[in-house]
Amino acid sequence: MKIAIAGKGGSGKTTIAGILTRLLAERGQNVWAIDADSNPNFGVTLGVAQDTMKSAKPMPASILKEVALEGGKTAMQLAMPARQVAQEFGTRVSDRVTLLGMHTIEHAGAGCACGGHARVRNLLSGILKEEGVVTVVDMEAGLEHLSRGTDRHVDMLLLVTEPYFKALETARRAAELARELGIPRIVAVANKFRGEDDLAAIRNYADKHGLEIVGEIPYDEEIQRADLAAEPPRLDVESAAVSSVRKLIGRLEI
Ligand SMILES: Nc1ncnc2c1ncn2[C@@H]1O[C@H](COP(=O)(O)OP(=O)(O)OP(=O)(O)O)[C@@H](O)[C@H]1O
Ligand SMILES: [Mg+2]
Repeated sequence: MKIAIAGKGGSGKTTIAGILTRLLAERGQNVWAIDADSNPNFGVTLGVAQDTMKSAKPMPASILKEVALEGGKTAMQLAMPARQVAQEFGTRVSDRVTLLGMHTIEHAGAGCACGGHARVRNLLSGILKEEGVVTVVDMEAGLEHLSRGTDRHVDMLLLVTEPYFKALETARRAAELARELGIPRIVAVANKFRGEDDLAAIRNYADKHGLEIVGEIPYDEEIQRADLAAEPPRLDVESAAVSSVRKLIGRLEI
């Protein structure tokens, strides 16, 4: 199972990706966590020490090679098995979780992140069922990953939305593009709701636009506390957000 998590900036993609990854690992699943954001935060949300994150390198360009196609065209593809990419370039977060980075911006004016997107796209294409891992991709805000086809090879796109119009619109636009890409399952998660009115507004919008809501995660002070302390949210004390992500996993049958 390969899952990408996308949505509007700040909607809670990384938070949900982090809790999801840790809960899956807690259940005994091996997870490859891919940070597909050029402003990477997946590591800190998974509890990786900041010094380790500083020395972690994103996947290098050498994981891809150019191959000749018929008609004189060329294409990029993985130069090594996906498992080797994870072993050589992944950061070991725990016994079960390996973190892979897409691209970091080291200098102003250094150019676009298209190489990073191509690496993630080809890596996703090369991750086979036989690896026995769940792949969780934390996407960059907005829609560029869909225009670049970065998430073309995922099985499921989880669109995170908050209870306000622009976030819902982002999820709707992303769902349209994801259908065009042929992603088999496209679902939405309502995050940071503060009451029934928020939920009603999200459900109403989703009904109108054919978005399937598979999870509802309340605004939760524990998430805020953890973020301010640069820690991952606690799993041992079952906060409202954590227990909602647990339910989400059950519903998605991951
Ligand atoms: N359920 C929640 N309850 C309270 N705060 C939350 C919740 N979900 C996320 N947040 C907070 O919202 C902010 C944005 O969360 P997060 O970084 O996960 O979003 P994002 O979508 O990954 O952002 P970006 O677009 O920058 O990658 C953070 O301060 C986070 O702690
Ligand atoms: Mg994020």
